[in-house]
Amino acid sequence: SRRSGGRPMKQRLLVVANRLPVSAVRRGEDSWSLEISAGGLVSALLGVKDVDAKWIGWAGVSVPDEVGQRALTKALAEKRCIPVFLDEEIVHQYYNGYCNNILWPLFHYLGLPQEDRLATTRSFQSQFDAYKRANQMFADVVNQHYQEGDVVWCHDYHLMFLPKCLKEYNSKMKVGWFLHTPFPSSEIHRTLPSRSELLRSVLAADLVGFHTYDYARHFVSACTRILGLEGTPEGVEDQGRLTRVAAFPIGIDSDRFKRALELPAVKEHINELTHRFAGRKDCEYLMMIIVILSETLSSKVMLGVDRLDMIKGIPQKILAFEKFLEENPSWRDKVVLLQIAVPTRTDVPEYQKLTSQVHEIVGRINGRFGTLTAVPIHHLDRSLDFHALCALYAVTDVALVTSLRDGMNLVSYEFVACQGSKKGVLILSEFAGAAQSLGAGALLVNPWNITEVAASIGYALNMSPDEREKRHRHNYAHVTTHTAQDWAETFVSELNDTVVEAQLRTRQ
Ligand code: G6P
Repeated sequence: SRRSGGRPMKQRLLVVANRLPVSAVRRGEDSWSLEISAGGLVSALLGVKDVDAKWIGWAGVSVPDEVGQRALTKALAEKRCIPVFLDEEIVHQYYNGYCNNILWPLFHYLGLPQEDRLATTRSFQSQFDAYKRANQMFADVVNQHYQEGDVVWCHDYHLMFLPKCLKEYNSKMKVGWFLHTPFPSSEIHRTLPSRSELLRSVLAADLVGFHTYDYARHFVSACTRILGLEGTPEGVEDQGRLTRVAAFPIGIDSDRFKRALELPAVKEHINELTHRFAGRKDCEYLMMIIVILSETLSSKVMLGVDRLDMIKGIPQKILAFEKFLEENPSWRDKVVLLQIAVPTRTDVPEYQKLTSQVHEIVGRINGRFGTLTAVPIHHLDRSLDFHALCALYAVTDVALVTSLRDGMNLVSYEFVACQGSKKGVLILSEFAGAAQSLGAGALLVNPWNITEVAASIGYALNMSPDEREKRHRHNYAHVTTHTAQDWAETFVSELNDTVVEAQLRTRQ
């Protein structure tokens, strides 16, 4: 930390992400109510040691008038948040379009949009232009708040154009960029019409981070193969300037889960879930689950918790569960799959299609294997509050994380953190970043291979207590020692060092 007039001063960190960690609801012309999401990532980013962090991003609402904008800015300032105002048209083109219809599927190996290729090609350019305009708007806000000595940490695929915009404002600004999704093989990235421009703008950053070594390697290969630059063990070099590229696997705030499990209310939830006691009414969703689980005495609980996103492999997971029931009639009334599917990006047509597809499959399987009193799959299109989720993780026997691709997948970490006493089994996709850290404790599967996933379900349900204990111990040790806080601190400290190194080089 720096000193000014003998007084220690904390270093300022500007965290820039598409979305602020708040949900803002307008109550009147100049009044807003804000709810800050208390997730582990938020506390990690806003709580880096000896750092004074502020968060810059879109508040997720359209605020066309100045009165509303001023009031929201003031309310957010108390939460250390600074808004970027995006109008509906730009949100449509930048967020629904370029980010979530083009980059998101491509980075998860689902390719560029297939249907009506010509229309896509025509709208591609306008969506990319909107993406650049939006990134420039983020840069303007960062620049207004930037003070000499600040470090700026940009997050995710929404803001790949931001490092370049920031360096154009001020080449001395320390800029880091971190990708929360996979970075695909260069053979996939090279299909993107704006492939070079995006790589070049990311390379303007001083430090570029990914969840796994593979993603970092893919990025370096894309820079060497598409841009013809030189890859080194430290990163990518362009005319003597090094952009450091490295892996920084994220974690969770495992203590937050452990603390939650000790709360009397959560203990009571766990008790209720375990003993079929359904006499209280303090959590609507939880009550629903209690009723669901109480229908099937002595059944095993399998759990999926995902955003309702095509990368999560929800249809494949449900089909694998169907195959398991088909092949194992004796389990039919002894196991229930509870799938929490949190609605997301509901304005993007692909997501709307997925919702009806999942409903159709669930309905068909429940029709096929349900009885008058019970159904095998309980699918909820909603999120759960944090305490209900912890209780549910704690009573689950087998968690199913079968993403087709996933940057890291922290649901797998959260499940492990809550399984201290039960020692349930994690079935985990080999295409989730988490497979690299939890692979030794989980049952790894190829989520596209429904036969293999069905067999793993059987193996998990029949696993001996000894094997469960051994597998759990491995994963628990990892999850509790590689936290979100460590991740954030390592990245920020490395970002500082990188810049110092660069300055040293120029001085030599
Ligand atoms: C992924 C992305 C995040 C994003 C989140 C929720 O985890 O990496 O950047 O915030 O999904 O998606 P949403 O579109 O609702 O912000």
